[in-house]
Amino acid sequence: MTAITLGRGASIPLRYANRHGLITGATGTGKTVSLMRLAEQFSRQGVPVFLADVKGDIAALSRSCPVEILDLFGQAGRPLNASVRGFGADLLARALELTDAQAGTLEIAFAFVRDRGLPLSTLADLRAALVRTLAERESVSIAYGQVSAASVGVIQRALMRLESQDGARFFGSPAFDVAQLLEPERVSILAADKLMTAPRVYSAFLLWLLSELYERLPEVGDLDKPRLVFFFDESHLLFQDCPLPLLRRIEQTVRLIRSKGVGVWFVSQSANDVPPLVREQLATRVEHDRSLPVGVARFQSIDANGRPTRVLTVKADLPACALGALSETERRQFMPPQAAQTPSRPIGADLPPWFEIALYAICAALIVAFLAFLVWAIETGRLGVCAAFCVGAWFALRGRIRAALR
Ligand SMILES: Nc1ncnc2c1ncn2[C@@H]1O[C@H](COP(=O)(O)OP(=O)(O)OP(=O)(O)O)[C@@H](O)[C@H]1O
Ligand SMILES: [Mg+2]
Repeated sequence: MTAITLGRGASIPLRYANRHGLITGATGTGKTVSLMRLAEQFSRQGVPVFLADVKGDIAALSRSCPVEILDLFGQAGRPLNASVRGFGADLLARALELTDAQAGTLEIAFAFVRDRGLPLSTLADLRAALVRTLAERESVSIAYGQVSAASVGVIQRALMRLESQDGARFFGSPAFDVAQLLEPERVSILAADKLMTAPRVYSAFLLWLLSELYERLPEVGDLDKPRLVFFFDESHLLFQDCPLPLLRRIEQTVRLIRSKGVGVWFVSQSANDVPPLVREQLATRVEHDRSLPVGVARFQSIDANGRPTRVLTVKADLPACALGALSETERRQFMPPQAAQTPSRPIGADLPPWFEIALYAICAALIVAFLAFLVWAIETGRLGVCAAFCVGAWFALRGRIRAALR
């Protein structure tokens, strides 16, 4: 049976790799290296992988696998978009860090524009929707529930914050088609280093991707390998302060997405970062530990018959790719053309050095000629001509002189 291996004796049968997994360990114990080893192995077996690169170290996989880098900000890699409506009120409320009451108002605005057939693709559409919801507050409150002006104000401010974090780039069309993640062998890496300054946006985005996959993919029977393996790095961010209804939705998605051929891996410092109902779904565990050498982990998975294996202590093999962040040249190949363009050189930077020397010589000659003219004017008593010349020269050249001094 085909399997992928983490290290000697530690294998995961591919046909069971849609049963989810967990990698845990304190910082520096080897979680990311284990994750990269597994991702590389999946890719080599033709299984597409999605992962988020929080620290910029996972992109090293591009040295050994066909990688596509995705970036919500469209700078480090291919830009991603989602429509506000597709993202959904509950995930947006989480990204905006709204309270339950404010999230309720947002939900009403979504329902209102849906029933009116209004557009809801960009953040500007959402702003307009909120304004209309407030303007028609009385009838909206009767039809959908109480709308509070204070909540609308808070949501508008939160949208402004999101826009200032470049969130406006992400919302719009065309919406990202998750089918693009399913190309065999493809390792899709979300550049998430910048995104970590807004962890709620990061977690809301990953949950959106997961629910899109869940909704778009058909049920499949037993497959000989998964259709996609999805790694959630910094998983604690997904569940931290998660409202109960959203938590229930995540638990349900994680439980059911297995039957659609998607394996989900959580990567976090402690198993307790993952809620118990999700933990129960995990078939493979890789536990790094400070009591073990770096790169060594306790490993448990399932055998060819689908039964849990015994716990092994195993040294994770290094991935084939050289470790370490990508160089500037390596990163450039993933950037969209506009972002990869070299910054334009200042005007004149291309001129040959002799031209610069000639310019200095001409300036020096002009200054000498001017001084000679001053001496001549003073000696011959033509002070009026001299003053008129100086004033005229000042008015003609003052803009350039000020700019040069600046
Ligand atoms: N299996 C391994 N074999 C050899 N060296 C390893 C192995 N795993 C990790 N290392 C070494 O330990 C370093 C830290 O590992 P890694 O980045 O995977 O830790 P981490 O648990 O992801 O840390 P953090 O929580 O800070 O992200 C690596 O750069 C590498 O030098
Ligand atoms: Mg790491």
